[in-house]
Amino acid sequence: MTPDEAKEAAAREALKHVRDGMKLGLGTGSTAAKFVAGLGEMVADGLNVVCVPTSEATRQQAESLNIPLTRLDEEPILDLTVDGADELDANLSLIKGGGGALLREKIVASSSKQMIVIADDTKKVDTLGKFPLPIEIVPFGVKSTAMKIEHASR
Ligand code: A5P
Repeated sequence: MTPDEAKEAAAREALKHVRDGMKLGLGTGSTAAKFVAGLGEMVADGLNVVCVPTSEATRQQAESLNIPLTRLDEEPILDLTVDGADELDANLSLIKGGGGALLREKIVASSSKQMIVIADDTKKVDTLGKFPLPIEIVPFGVKSTAMKIEHASR
């Protein structure tokens, strides 16, 4: 199975957990995009869901597939979020956010009763941290935050 086929298979498995009436968090990245594509097919077939996207890219994809969207402020408790991962280890600890959507991804995931992470086996590592750990910060107090990060990394 190619990585692309594995992503597709993982997305299809996750889609089996979607139920009519659910409030869903939609992840970001190429694997999550396969889930969103499949969800679009289910919506076209009559599935009734409402979704919160974790990035503009996901919002655009979902909109193009006529997947009903809302804002987390409208639906602060979600049933299920499905998202990808950059790395996972043998304990299923993860690194996410390499695609630059970490902050929204974390907020959406933490607002969900359940989260399913979908990943192909190229994401498996012995030790997390093959690449610099992604962080995402808000503009407010950026200098203070930057100083704290610099201090913590010494
Ligand atoms: C986005 O910020 C990331 O967390 C992605 O979910 C993660 O990088 C996985 O992306 P791919 O499925 O494209 O590998």
